[in-house]
Amino acid sequence: MANTVIIKKKIKPFKKKIFVSGDKSLSIRWVLFSSLASGNSVAKNLLISEDVLSVINAVRKLGIKVQLKENYCKIFGKGINGYDYKRSITINAGNSGTLGRLILGLLINNPNSTRLIGDKSLSKRDFKRISDPLSKFGAKFKLSKNNSLPLKITGTKKPRPIFFRESKGSAQCKSAVIFGGLRTEGKTLIKAKKSRNHTEILCRYLNLPIKVQSEEKYDLIEISKAKKIKPLNYNIPSDVSSAAFFIVLTALSKKSELIIKNVNINPSRIGIITILKKMGVKIKFLNKKKYKGEKIADIMVNSPKTLKPINCPSSLNSGAIDEFLIIFLVAAKAKGISYFKDLSELNKKESPRLKLGSNILKMMGVKTITSYNSIRIFGNPNLKINKKIIIKNFLKDHRIFMTSIIAALSFGGDWTVHDKDSIKTSFPNFLNILKKLRKYEN
Ligand code: S3P
Repeated sequence: MANTVIIKKKIKPFKKKIFVSGDKSLSIRWVLFSSLASGNSVAKNLLISEDVLSVINAVRKLGIKVQLKENYCKIFGKGINGYDYKRSITINAGNSGTLGRLILGLLINNPNSTRLIGDKSLSKRDFKRISDPLSKFGAKFKLSKNNSLPLKITGTKKPRPIFFRESKGSAQCKSAVIFGGLRTEGKTLIKAKKSRNHTEILCRYLNLPIKVQSEEKYDLIEISKAKKIKPLNYNIPSDVSSAAFFIVLTALSKKSELIIKNVNINPSRIGIITILKKMGVKIKFLNKKKYKGEKIADIMVNSPKTLKPINCPSSLNSGAIDEFLIIFLVAAKAKGISYFKDLSELNKKESPRLKLGSNILKMMGVKTITSYNSIRIFGNPNLKINKKIIIKNFLKDHRIFMTSIIAALSFGGDWTVHDKDSIKTSFPNFLNILKKLRKYEN
């Protein structure tokens, strides 16, 4: 079966330095900002994955020229009003919630109608969370039933500034409204629960009219209409969400050490590091530096002797939102009961991750108590799997696939994991990097 991976052996101790692929959030944002710049922008180390290719196709549809050669990309921006396309087009966001939501913010002032479609997983996800605030600018939306895709957006020539209270901790919603604000005369205000802040950092780096006041639990963001966006040359750092799988593999292995080079360690993204350190994993940042407002470092991880359970504060949820599946594996090996709460957003991702994550743990023989927004995991430091486990029907969620592979290599058992192709959305190189770590096995 070409699209399945079979694993029957645990990984042996390793000591390695690796690079993981470029950051997905930054790659998507770079394409979108560059598509509106006055002039040409170049990115190196762009993540080449299906999600990013969907963004490139989207801006091409909007009339922007893009050249791509391996992970080097050049975008020929035609200015902030440079999108030029036929009356009515369809944009296919594929599997990417980030593209699907962010692009709508850039279309609020375009009176042409645009249809937005996505794959089976994206078509199940909620778009009301974004059509609600963007409608207040004056854009009109027509959603499918269950507030999902396909949808139609018809922008307005004269958008009005809005106030948006973002209470889910969603960077996608916040960023789409920032994009809307940059296209609108007057002051748009956002009171946003803390979430990843790459859009704000890029706005500041590009001298766009944004002010951010940071309070303990939320940010107050004020945006005004941008006149011009300068070209943006960017060397994309590696993605901590991709690094996460190898960090956890090291945390669950014996006598191993791993250095992951040049990773984006933006404080709004490293919830996993804080959580794993609390659980007793030894993690250090080496060669710290700043790049265009983002923090970057090499991440060094050493296998710990024992793992402690965690009662995870929900203030860490947004900063680890893409990493909970893999964090649950660490909880499965900790000495005691771990508790993760206020996680209803986790069931609104590419798949219902809280539910599927809990199912996988159960298959592994780990006791869990799960509600719609929380999970208690009864860890076992001696957890060993001696049975057959088949992972399938998970809406091709890339993070479910990769988490299952790490579980197989860490706990043993005879695993068949379906839908290998899912990694193409975010981390096509995942299995090749694993091969390097398993090099000395036969
Ligand atoms: C992302 C934000 C998060 C995250 C997603 C990427 C982004 O989604 O899960 O993978 O780049 O803005 P939400 O904003 O919906 O939480």
